Amino acid sequence: MLNYISDFKINHLMKRYIDLETPYQFQKIIGKGSYGVAYLLVHKDTGIQYVLKRMRTKHSGDERQKRKFKQEVTMLKLLGLPNVPKLVFEGELEGIPFYIMDFIDGNTFEQEIFHEGKVFSLEKSFIILEKLFEVVIKLHERNIVHRDLRIPNILIKNDIIYIIDFGLASYINSDVLVKEIENPKTLEDHRSDLYFIGHFLLFLLYSTYSPNSRKERSWQEELQLPDDVKTYIERLLLIGPAFSSAEEARQSIPSFINGAVP
Ligand SMILES: Nc1ncnc2c1ncn2[C@@H]1O[C@H](COP(=O)(O)OP(=O)(O)O)[C@@H](O)[C@H]1O
Ligand SMILES: [Mg+2]
Repeated sequence: MLNYISDFKINHLMKRYIDLETPYQFQKIIGKGSYGVAYLLVHKDTGIQYVLKRMRTKHSGDERQKRKFKQEVTMLKLLGLPNVPKLVFEGELEGIPFYIMDFIDGNTFEQEIFHEGKVFSLEKSFIILEKLFEVVIKLHERNIVHRDLRIPNILIKNDIIYIIDFGLASYINSDVLVKEIENPKTLEDHRSDLYFIGHFLLFLLYSTYSPNSRKERSWQEELQLPDDVKTYIERLLLIGPAFSSAEEARQSIPSFINGAVP
């Protein structure tokens, strides 16, 4: 309850601060995750919309979380990729760090699948995957792994893919600990992103699936995928031999998307 009240209070203070002390105006809250809250703003002179992301108040006493949030800001500043929102301002209010970035006026894949009811065929899913890999390869070239490539953190606007939320990102470190092999999400190398991309792909493919029995089966049984696609996904999920890089994973996309139908 206490957390709720202080989140409520900071929303109120933030709105007042934005409206009175910045060139922006608060419009609405557009997203909440476990680490941050995102507000939609509009620039009073240009009418261009931006997003302010602030840390959640429950983390305000946690120095580690605060450092992570600041690292997210640093990474966004360094990245300068067209498929990642550009940072335009950073600050702190009542001990809560925040930053302002470009607004991607599209949909997250969570919205696409669960709110808009979009359906992604095998071919469409792999076209999206190919575009996602192009962005992820650029991140890895800059020595960064995102480590949270989930449907609320990947957006699409006019068929272009954007990645947001670098809250769990890390610099690539190939000294792998045993606990990280057991939990691939925490790996500080390309395999963490490939693992998440494998799950992301399953979300796309499940959009065409309607269960015909009550019994829950594995994705391999439920989705009825061609063998090469199944093997491909198993490699992303580290059930099969891992790809040595995101580039290799991109190049290994099953070839049917280039014409031949499975
Ligand atoms: N730049 C942006 N453009 C459009 N929507 C955004 C942007 N940044 C955040 N969002 C929305 O806000 C949500 C939460 O932001 P996110 O950075 O993912 O926070 P968290 O770290 O808490 O997950 C996202 O899932 C998305 O819906
Ligand atoms: Mg998020």
